[in-house]
Amino acid sequence: MIMEKIKVDLGQRSYEIEVGCGNLFQTNFTKFNASKIAVITDSNVRGLFAEKLLELIKSQGVNAQLFEVPAGEKSKNPMQVIEIAREMVRNNFDTKSMVVAVGGGVVGDLAAFIASVYKRGIKVVHVPTTLIAQVDSSIGGKTGVDLPEGKNLVGTFYQPSKVIIDVGVLKTLPAAELKNGLAEAIKYGMSQDEELFEFLEQNVGNASPEFFLKLVSWCCSIKARVVERDERESELRKVLNYGHTVGHAIEAAELYEIAHGAAVGIGMNYEARIAVLLGVLKEADLRRQNELIEKTGLQAKYSAKTDLIELMKRDKKNKLDKIFFVLPNAVGSVKTENGKIAFPVEEETIRKALEQ
Ligand SMILES: NC(=O)c1ccc[n+]([C@@H]2O[C@H](COP(=O)([O-])OP(=O)(O)OC[C@H]3O[C@@H](n4cnc5c(N)ncnc54)[C@H](O)[C@@H]3O)[C@@H](O)[C@H]2O)c1
Repeated sequence: MIMEKIKVDLGQRSYEIEVGCGNLFQTNFTKFNASKIAVITDSNVRGLFAEKLLELIKSQGVNAQLFEVPAGEKSKNPMQVIEIAREMVRNNFDTKSMVVAVGGGVVGDLAAFIASVYKRGIKVVHVPTTLIAQVDSSIGGKTGVDLPEGKNLVGTFYQPSKVIIDVGVLKTLPAAELKNGLAEAIKYGMSQDEELFEFLEQNVGNASPEFFLKLVSWCCSIKARVVERDERESELRKVLNYGHTVGHAIEAAELYEIAHGAAVGIGMNYEARIAVLLGVLKEADLRRQNELIEKTGLQAKYSAKTDLIELMKRDKKNKLDKIFFVLPNAVGSVKTENGKIAFPVEEETIRKALEQ
């Protein structure tokens, strides 16, 4: 059952996000006219959905092969790119071949990066299977792998040909992974849409397909509209980084042993605190945000063992030693000034917020 089709309008690079329940295994893969399909997945998702999808593709008369990486962030590395690309060359994948990424954000970022560089670029279709990937990482075209020096340091902007979202696959997702996805949904609500925020307040704990259909479509529409206006993050797209400046520093401090969504949940607390200290956000709105974060089972508080400010300075998004933040000014909106959406904040203010 397909519930909604959301278009991402990017001229020649436009594509459709299909959101449904039970729609994945109804897909006709012949319509992509691919000479061969590389189904890239991880060790958990392989037995759950990827093998079945491979069989479906083959049953439609399309040549296809499965590539598996170990589950987890460690697979997002350049060696994995080389390994899969070499295997694809040895198996005659050509410029008309296509990648289908079946998995969470790790598989999506890795597989789409491979597609973007393999023989100078072949098509990629995303089949996101975590809530984070369905509401966020499969849309917008950011791809990449990590280096020992930091996350996502090698990557491309590369839009997919299609995103096929089946919320039915969330049934097997562990509760902790669902929470990570909810953190990104709260991010959209807090930074851009009070109605979405209220919907989350009213529905936390709901795990019905109807809830996920509505939530995922809503988040995808928000992200699609942002990406259409600022594909390469010259300014507006930075709104999607709310909670991520502190969040990325926490991920680095925890040596990536903490989930991305969990770090973003904490990050939103401290970034909203900065906004309160600067007189941009009311204390009551900070409390409302944190109540929702905690209601989902995510943490808002964190006691740092490392200097997070030093880690923030090293983040590739911060220029000239200045640390920039997206600052909420109410539930559902952020401060903007002369077209700017991210603002430099003094270290003293950041430190004060982190100590609260
Ligand atoms: N490109 C972007 O715009 C963007 C945005 C946000 C996050 N990301 C990236 O996404 C990654 C995090 O993504 P993630 O949270 O999806 O992590 P993940 O891909 O590691 O998935 C989390 C876990 O869930 C398992 N899993 C996936 N689908 C499942 C299912 N349906 N049932 C049971 N288990 C399942 C996976 O095997 C894995 O163990 C990070 O690397 C982050 O940098 C990218």
